[in-house]
Amino acid sequence: MKAKSKKVVIFGVLDTAELAHYYLTHDSECEVVAFTVNEQYIKEPFFKGLPVIPFEMVETMYNPDDYYFFAPMTGRRMNKNREEIYNQAKQKGYRFVSYISSRVSRFDNEIGDNCFILEDNTIQPFTSIGNNVVMWSGNHIGHHGAIKDHVFFTSHVVLSGHCLVESYCFFGVNSTIRDFTTLGEGTLVAMGSNITRNTEPWGVYVGNPALKKENIKSIDAY
Ligand SMILES: CC(C)(COP(=O)(O)OP(=O)(O)OC[C@H]1O[C@@H](n2cnc3c(N)ncnc32)[C@H](O)[C@@H]1OP(=O)(O)O)[C@@H](O)C(=O)NCCC(=O)NCCS
Repeated sequence: MKAKSKKVVIFGVLDTAELAHYYLTHDSECEVVAFTVNEQYIKEPFFKGLPVIPFEMVETMYNPDDYYFFAPMTGRRMNKNREEIYNQAKQKGYRFVSYISSRVSRFDNEIGDNCFILEDNTIQPFTSIGNNVVMWSGNHIGHHGAIKDHVFFTSHVVLSGHCLVESYCFFGVNSTIRDFTTLGEGTLVAMGSNITRNTEPWGVYVGNPALKKENIKSIDAY
């Protein structure tokens, strides 16, 4: 069997980390060697048979010159949790891997680091994807667009052609975005909503056509 070329430490010990371990092990050139979380969250010394290391000292055990980092976390706090860990690992000197499923349809798109792009995403030509972007399964990402950093696509989102997605946006399941639309920074598109106009930064948009909605209590959960 061909030796795996990159040794990787994954941040997390919950579902997303378990999925990342599965996908990297079965569908990448990466070998997962350890998990890491902040010390206060360590309950067991091992996960998936691998050591769980306090994040505060991970660089002393897994030298950033020799090991890569992967933090494919959820969209909580509008992707800010994932951004914080991404920045902290970068400060420790780590380089990141991106996981791009072998079952993605894509072309020569520019794709940044620490991205987690699962099966059945279609990414059309001339659309770029920034750093720390998650695309769960089955999204359509149209042509001639740009997706900035720390964005989260859940599943079966249709992003039409020529769209600009600013950083921190979150797209709920089955949402649809009209072509030539700009999504302002931190836009939350509710599940099943149809965006027909440009959105304002940090707005929550709900319905068909989607309208900006105030006082959504659970926004912090995303
Ligand atoms: C927009 C969203 C964040 C609001 O969550 P919330 O604050 O918990 O909202 P609630 O469930 O309390 O609903 C508030 C109201 O908005 C309505 N509403 C919520 N989401 C809606 C949607 N997508 N479309 C239409 N109406 C919606 C609810 O019916 C409710 O109406 P009511 O006050 O008349 O009863 C959430 O509905 C959503 O879309 N989350 C994304 C879910 C997702 O895609 N998950 C993927 C798995 S990662």
